[in-house]
Amino acid sequence: MIPRHVAFIMDGNGRWAKSRGLPRHAGHKKGADVLEKVCDRLDVLGVKYASFYAFSTENWSRPDDEVKKLMALLRSMVKKALPKLIERQVKLTVSGDLFSDKVSKAGREATLDAIEKTKDLKNGTVNICFNYGAKSEIVHAANLALEKGLPITEETISQNLWVPELPEVDLVIRTSGEQRLSNFMLWQSAYAEIYFTDCLWPDFGDDELDAAINWFSERKRRFGGL
Ligand code: IPE
Ligand code: IPE
Ligand code: MG
Repeated sequence: MIPRHVAFIMDGNGRWAKSRGLPRHAGHKKGADVLEKVCDRLDVLGVKYASFYAFSTENWSRPDDEVKKLMALLRSMVKKALPKLIERQVKLTVSGDLFSDKVSKAGREATLDAIEKTKDLKNGTVNICFNYGAKSEIVHAANLALEKGLPITEETISQNLWVPELPEVDLVIRTSGEQRLSNFMLWQSAYAEIYFTDCLWPDFGDDELDAAINWFSERKRRFGGL
């Protein structure tokens, strides 16, 4: 049983760096490499949709220097990923407000370029959650539905989320030992299985991912039935 949509809360970069006497940013940089490797493995496993929590609406409260470096990382990560996405025919999408003034122009432009160049690709979707918060996504979806003159229903909310074509999340994976959702994909994860591991995100490798997928395949999903 392979999940269709896996959503990652990539946590623990700072602690990983600290434990090595490195600046926090070194953890984020290693974390971006891990994201790429995880995508390679998901491709092999046949997971078609993957979401990655890269920057939350709450992360603006971090020191300016860290925020700035995370913006720069968005740009370099997306630029590096683009050729591979095209080679594998995988589409890039973003959940979150890329158009906020607070998001760096260079990060926004590189990301919009990659979204445009991969928009018709059909062999899977990598969704980056950036400047993302689940509560604001739901409010945004409700307002969009109202603007379109639609009634508020589960369907119209789903159809007006940042990336409406994403299927429901089957499996949420959170690294670093924290057992919370931190405002991540609350709507899409209503019936997700949730996997917590103590492993810090920069240490998350194929074995960890395989263990999570194996754990998932043994779950009995009942969706309220028997
Ligand atoms: C996750 O790692 C990455 C982001 C939130 C951007 P953290 O930076 O939260 O790392 P810890 O939790 O401080 O170890
Ligand atoms: C969640 O990690 C956000 C991302 C992974 C981008 P945080 O480190 O920001 O979450 P909290 O503050 O521990 O809940
Ligand atoms: Mg954290």
